[in-house]
Amino acid sequence: MPSLANVIPDPPALLATIDAACTNVGSHLHGPAHWRAVGWTGLELLAGEPAADPAVVLLFAMFHDSMRLDDGYDPQHGPRAAVFAASLHGRHFHLPDDRLKWLTRAIRDHTAGRLAGNPTIACCWDADRLNLWRVGVRPDPAFLSTETARRPEVIERAAKLEGQRHGWDEIVRRHSELPPGDGDTKTAATPQS
Ligand SMILES: [Fe+2]
Ligand SMILES: [Fe+2]
Repeated sequence: MPSLANVIPDPPALLATIDAACTNVGSHLHGPAHWRAVGWTGLELLAGEPAADPAVVLLFAMFHDSMRLDDGYDPQHGPRAAVFAASLHGRHFHLPDDRLKWLTRAIRDHTAGRLAGNPTIACCWDADRLNLWRVGVRPDPAFLSTETARRPEVIERAAKLEGQRHGWDEIVRRHSELPPGDGDTKTAATPQS
């Protein structure tokens, strides 16, 4: 698996491209502060899922809500964001085929409310759901796929939305310091999907 620097050679350029194309970039609920919070939360979940790929989780954080039309009901924002992410592959980021599929599936289906058996996708969805506190919703362990995310202290701590206070430089650096994951698609977390 290539290093994060090879997957995303120029993170500021990628982020500038996402910001420029984003259809709801001014939102404090679904805009860049939330994306950073998802990236930050993903760090703790990745530590508990050594098979998961940090680069995919980081890219999920950056892309997953970029194509929302507004902050209301918009179930197609996942599929639209998956198409947008795929359109930047080979230009702003580079992933092996299997991991590109995990990324686009994680983005496309993150609104469907399912659990994930793939550890990388599980980290993506749990990082997003632990940040439901920002809209006044306590994350429900029944909708969290990883053992780490279901721990009561992790759910409670997520209420602080700490990641919103960290910059992308630090979040990208912290992801780059994690091992790339062995790509094992099995996880002990849940048997679903
Ligand atoms: Fe979303
Ligand atoms: Fe989100």
